[in-house]
Amino acid sequence: MCGILGYIGGREATPLLLDGLKRLEYRGYDSSGIAVISEGKLIVRRSMGKLSQLETLIEKEPVDGKIGIGHTRWATHGRPSEMNAHPHKAGKIVVVHNGIIENYLSLKEMLMGEGHTFKSETDTEVLSHLIQRYIFKGKNFEEAVRSALEDLQGSYAIGVLSESDPGKLIAARNESPLIIGMGVDEFFIASDVPAILNHTRDVIFLDDEEMAIISRGDIKITDPKRKEVKKNIVKINWSPTQAEKGGYRHFMLKEIFEQPQAIIDTFRGRILKEKGEIYWEEINLSPRKLEPIKKIAIIACGTSWHAALIGKFMIEEFCRIPVEVDLGSEYRYRDPIVNHQTLLILISQSGETADTLASLREGKKKGASTIAISNVVGSSMVRGSDGVIYTHAGPEIGVASTKAFTTQLVALYLLTLHLGKVFNTISAEKRRMMIQELIRLPHQVEEILREESKIEEIARNYMKCNDFLYLGRGINYPIALEGALKLKEISYIHAEGYPAGEMKHGPIALVDEEMPVVVLITRDKTYRKVLGNVEEIKARKGKILAILDHRDEGMMEKVDASVFLPGTNAALTPILFTIPLQLLAYYIGVFKGTDVDQPRNLAKSVTVE
Ligand code: AGP
Repeated sequence: MCGILGYIGGREATPLLLDGLKRLEYRGYDSSGIAVISEGKLIVRRSMGKLSQLETLIEKEPVDGKIGIGHTRWATHGRPSEMNAHPHKAGKIVVVHNGIIENYLSLKEMLMGEGHTFKSETDTEVLSHLIQRYIFKGKNFEEAVRSALEDLQGSYAIGVLSESDPGKLIAARNESPLIIGMGVDEFFIASDVPAILNHTRDVIFLDDEEMAIISRGDIKITDPKRKEVKKNIVKINWSPTQAEKGGYRHFMLKEIFEQPQAIIDTFRGRILKEKGEIYWEEINLSPRKLEPIKKIAIIACGTSWHAALIGKFMIEEFCRIPVEVDLGSEYRYRDPIVNHQTLLILISQSGETADTLASLREGKKKGASTIAISNVVGSSMVRGSDGVIYTHAGPEIGVASTKAFTTQLVALYLLTLHLGKVFNTISAEKRRMMIQELIRLPHQVEEILREESKIEEIARNYMKCNDFLYLGRGINYPIALEGALKLKEISYIHAEGYPAGEMKHGPIALVDEEMPVVVLITRDKTYRKVLGNVEEIKARKGKILAILDHRDEGMMEKVDASVFLPGTNAALTPILFTIPLQLLAYYIGVFKGTDVDQPRNLAKSVTVE
């Protein structure tokens, strides 16, 4: 997620912008920049890398002025580079932006047809030219911004300056957060509270499609109909640390609750509902390149390997292409059977995991085509692959992967639909239906998140247990593995995931009254079998925590705790099952007092063997 900052007041803007951007560093970024109106001129300073590099640049070329905007970029469109860093300038207009402009390509073509030239690969630069275009057409600064925003589809939080209107700072938002800090004879705009907390605790939270026109000592906020709206000023009582976590106790909990938005951001701008097709410019693997593919290998580590296992179920069921899945640490040493008819998919949140990177090199050496599914633009895995599917989860600070995992599953679902079209194995009607179910998913995740207190209670009841079993079948067996891994890495309690059908082949010897067993139950062809597993556990006095994809009153009598999930198609069910397991692991870790965001012995990215 990018960080936005803006200032207008009686103090020098540059130091305030840099200080505020530093307080947004936790959001993750790969480049940064500021723009200040200095003696009537718009001056831009941008740099790749850390903010210290921007500071060095500004020390060499200082910028004075009392109105400015700043930005830290978490790349989504266009690799990390100085040219792609914000702010983006067009004529006398300069813009910083957080969000995704879905229709930026068509707008860019229209603007280029009118003679606009572009320097960057970003969607944001299109907005600066669009505003400039309306100014050329005679609209004033405020109206030009509003008109440009009306042409946009997608999400935005923006700060805009105009050299022709040096006393005005304009801010606006739609589906990306933006706040206004009300200082003493000065105003701030920011993506998030931490950026301004050391200057003011009086904040206005802009709502979707609202725009703020800010000048020295005055602010006007309008709705899409240009009607002025009165907003409440909210007093923020968080500490700076609390503010970075958005008021949540830990980054992990914040990221669990960010999943509905992360899922939306991952499919946004990629689904053509009417046609039932997937559109992504970065996959860079045309049907012609995909047609020779006879086998797919998906390689990953840890939680990403669980996503890979689910990807196998999706692709084999819907695309009828054989899929093998392997751990990066195994694949790289087993001399795998790979050739030009193999599509190698590497899944990695960080894009830097050493074992997965080594597998990428191994597969390329043997002639495979490669796609990376990653959350980090420009990461090593992305740069080394033929194509990429980005998960737009935003930075994941907690070591335990949560929103990165569920957005990896969304990316695999989109890939399945894409391959189903290329190999003509999913009808257009079926693809349209599957897309509709994907669009419904974020609301279903929100519905499950509303069960938080119930899951917290279950965690409190079982936090003292020393061993857990997690059981699932079919496409949900990897979720049993994922639930067990979350518990292990967050609470340090031993846990194992098993296919439910494996119970009688050994694990059932473990079951006694001390052993909680989490059972994932779907009303599918194995439903009766799983009920049998539940009876076997019950007969041995095991504690049963049932998670079901349907309401089943009869089951409630048989088990010690149950969580009901909303229904969706089998391929999306793993995403819904994951949510309660993330919360269960989180709360057991909290009750046990472990360092939930930075568990012992673990690193966020394992860049060594
Ligand atoms: C998952 O919660 C862990 N943090 C870990 O298993 C992680 O998934 C694994 O190290 C792979 O990381 P990557 O996705 O960045 O490659």
